[in-house]
Amino acid sequence: MTTTPDRYAVAGNPVAHSRSPLIHSLFAQQTGQAMDYARLLCPLDGFKPHIRAFAAQGGRGCNVTVPFKFEAFELASRHTPRAVLAQAANTLRFDPDSEGGWLADNTDGVGLVRDIRLNAQVPLAGQRVLLLGAGGASAGVLGPLIEARPAEIVMANRTVAKAQAIVARHADWAAQHGVGLSARGLDDPGQAYDVFINGTAASLAGSGVPVGPAVLKPGALALDMMYGRAALAFLDWARAHGAVPRDGLGMLVEQAAESFALWRGLRPDTGPVLAQLRALVDGQLDH
Ligand code: ATR
Repeated sequence: MTTTPDRYAVAGNPVAHSRSPLIHSLFAQQTGQAMDYARLLCPLDGFKPHIRAFAAQGGRGCNVTVPFKFEAFELASRHTPRAVLAQAANTLRFDPDSEGGWLADNTDGVGLVRDIRLNAQVPLAGQRVLLLGAGGASAGVLGPLIEARPAEIVMANRTVAKAQAIVARHADWAAQHGVGLSARGLDDPGQAYDVFINGTAASLAGSGVPVGPAVLKPGALALDMMYGRAALAFLDWARAHGAVPRDGLGMLVEQAAESFALWRGLRPDTGPVLAQLRALVDGQLDH
């Protein structure tokens, strides 16, 4: 007897570049899950009806990428606490109505924290962290970063008011976890951090790293949430200034594993999948 695979997708615009279908098919193969995972290109002004149609046609859940993470949050009637802190969702599970409606989660932050702690082997606890940017990417990871209990997190952004608003929203969460949390501008970001995370779009804009190397303690971890060509300039800069460079590929695989666990109730082994993705992305950089 053959089982019809359960349907999932990554929804975005653009979405053609997304590695999520490959990652989830590798997870499904590894764990023996019958799943079909596609790309869903949604019109910029029609995200919600598109997702409702996908669910009506049998979809069980989806990942959501730029620029729809805020609308995805609004679509669900239930939200995990980390999605509430982020005010944005990258994962939807289309639960039947009897369970209280769709569930929205945000797995980006926990993916980042798992990559830093488990894959990069940097503890985070008790350390000083600089998080650059106050857009969706940085806002989405701040809650789980706080849960990792660093001594301090500084959120620095070109537009300081945006960082201040996000920091204010996380103030209670930071106090509960004993983490010093503050907002700064790019002209005075502080110095000698153990971990420097770039969540800005500055590398995409081709404008280089918008803070000086004094933010890095010798041997600091310097992580860009981008990967592939978009991360190269940041990684070169980090290496040139004595930091340990890391791109966002590990975060991508780890956030996917967390979504997979939410949908399927089991956690795939991310190590071999990250190695395969790494080989693929490095191979494309050589051309
Ligand atoms: P995303 O949702 O992907 O995070 P976004 O909401 O457009 O995208 O946020 C982009 C982030 O990159 C913001 O923090 C932005 O700074 P502002 O809030 O001041 O706009 C930051 N950013 C973009 N280009 C930048 C540049 N050239 N230098 C410094 N910061 C930049």
